[in-house]
Amino acid sequence: MCGVVGYVGDRDCTDVLINALSKLEYRGYDSAGIAVFERNKIVVEKCQGKLKNLVTKLESEHKPLGHCGIGHTRWATHGEPSDINSHPHGNKRVTIVHNGIIENYRQLKDFLSNEGYSFESQTDTETVAKLLDYYYDGNPLDTITKVVTEIEGSYALGIIFRDFPDTIFAVRKDSPLIVGLGENENFIASDVPAILKYTKNYYLLEQDEIAIIKKDRVKVYDVHHNLLNKEVMVADWDINSAEKCGYEHFMLKEIHEQPTAITNTVSPRVFDGMPNLEECGITVDYLKGISRLFIVACGTAMHAGIVGKYVIEDLARVPVTVDMASEFIYRNPIIDSSDLVILISQSGETADTKSALKLAKQCGAKTLSIVNVVGSSIARESDMVIYTHAGPEISVASTKAYSVQLAIMYLIAFELSYAKEKISLDACKEYTSKLMDIPNLITETLEHKNICQKIASKIMNATSLLYIGRGLDYALSMEGSLKLKELSYIHSEAYASGELKHGTISLVDDEMPVIAVATQDRLFDKTISNIKEVKARGAKVILVCKESANVDDDIADYIIRIPATDNILMPMITTVPLQLIAYYTAVHRGNNVDQPRNLAKSVTVE
Ligand code: M6R
Repeated sequence: MCGVVGYVGDRDCTDVLINALSKLEYRGYDSAGIAVFERNKIVVEKCQGKLKNLVTKLESEHKPLGHCGIGHTRWATHGEPSDINSHPHGNKRVTIVHNGIIENYRQLKDFLSNEGYSFESQTDTETVAKLLDYYYDGNPLDTITKVVTEIEGSYALGIIFRDFPDTIFAVRKDSPLIVGLGENENFIASDVPAILKYTKNYYLLEQDEIAIIKKDRVKVYDVHHNLLNKEVMVADWDINSAEKCGYEHFMLKEIHEQPTAITNTVSPRVFDGMPNLEECGITVDYLKGISRLFIVACGTAMHAGIVGKYVIEDLARVPVTVDMASEFIYRNPIIDSSDLVILISQSGETADTKSALKLAKQCGAKTLSIVNVVGSSIARESDMVIYTHAGPEISVASTKAYSVQLAIMYLIAFELSYAKEKISLDACKEYTSKLMDIPNLITETLEHKNICQKIASKIMNATSLLYIGRGLDYALSMEGSLKLKELSYIHSEAYASGELKHGTISLVDDEMPVIAVATQDRLFDKTISNIKEVKARGAKVILVCKESANVDDDIADYIIRIPATDNILMPMITTVPLQLIAYYTAVHRGNNVDQPRNLAKSVTVE
């Protein structure tokens, strides 16, 4: 939620900030702003709306010229999206950008108001800017230290002081922040893609570390002002991963990147044809001792967990409980030191998932995270981590991250089943080999673009849709439905087809398209019966089934036949047409595909 950037060096600071912000817009796009030193004065330009509004403003009004500054792209929490509420906040002496939430901002605001400060915005951030001003005594390090001891909540702060026109100050707690290390230029950013054009080297700021960043040196201090010797991290994401590379949208590019992402995620974890997660601390001996599992996550990541549950329970016969992180943390779950809690998160920064991790640790459980962003909070704070290698996912709607999360679910399921002696070595190898073949099948499935585009044009005016399926098809449909909702703004619901007749079928009429997923051989005939039931009520039906499915063409209005693999692995293929249908529906409706309304990629507030 919100992207923070900063630059100090010889380049045109405004250009660098705008470029860096354009790579972080996925974190929020309600407003954008910059503060740049122009002839030793802090010049702030900001406005409501997407970054392009700010660019237009800079072009038509004033583009600050300087070499040191900070920038922000916002996902509104405190105060509506507006020019006034946009960051940066502050005054001529100290100006800040902030990602996070200041929980005690009301008390601070009262205190500062009594001290004579007035406030322009409705934001929590402005209180931090004013508090910095209040304590400022000419020594930024002391001032920042005092302020961070008084503020409660989460923050990644980029700070500039008028008296230090060649320096950016930065501090973080519970919101990510990196310091990019260039040649005679340095950066701050909420995430790696913002700096990739300029450098791959960076420091990860830890909790409450304070960085002092000049163009030729970076110093990082702990809360006691000890100078730290930080490890330089090297991003392994290449610059193209944060560019559209000819695709109309990041989402479409990311859908096409799935074969590579899966190969990159699976191959390093397969030795002699067997899954091997030892480098992540998971041994066969450890798996043997597991008697039950919890999977906790949000949104798409939680949907990956639901598929994981079906597969793990089916193959390994180990009970799995899947929770939405936001429910898990308040339902007083029964877990203890004998349990393994798996947290799944693309960003590794999702607030609810982070709280779930904390709770699991407090209960003494062992924690394993499945995370895409290296060095993110969830990855660092869990006992074990398996990184998915999807590369940066820029589109707010998750696609390739979901696929690689599924891939890890399968690796865990196969290895666990083998450890539990539920499948033989040969069977485990066979499953693993089929998993490794999935990228080829996805490449073939991507050829079905045209029919998905056509179907999208038929459903684009619907007001509500149903996704139906059984077993793994149902689990997968939940993700298909979420994708459609978040991108097209059309209501949809995933429903277990067998449950339809217990109430929900009363909704079905000729206005409600039904997307039926029937890839599980064992359940195929049953789902076909359910299709007949909804068709009899007038629904237009889109059927997704295996190429080989023995079904008459008139069973549905449209049939998408996808390449077949083992039933258990079908969700990895089936997700593709559902992603494409959601994508093209949003395109046909003229929606902003990569930045759907009201959303942000990384949800760092509860
Ligand atoms: O970064 P995370 O995987 O923890 O994010 C969880 C959800 O916010 C995320 O998957 C969200 O549901 C996606 N926008 C869906 O496309």
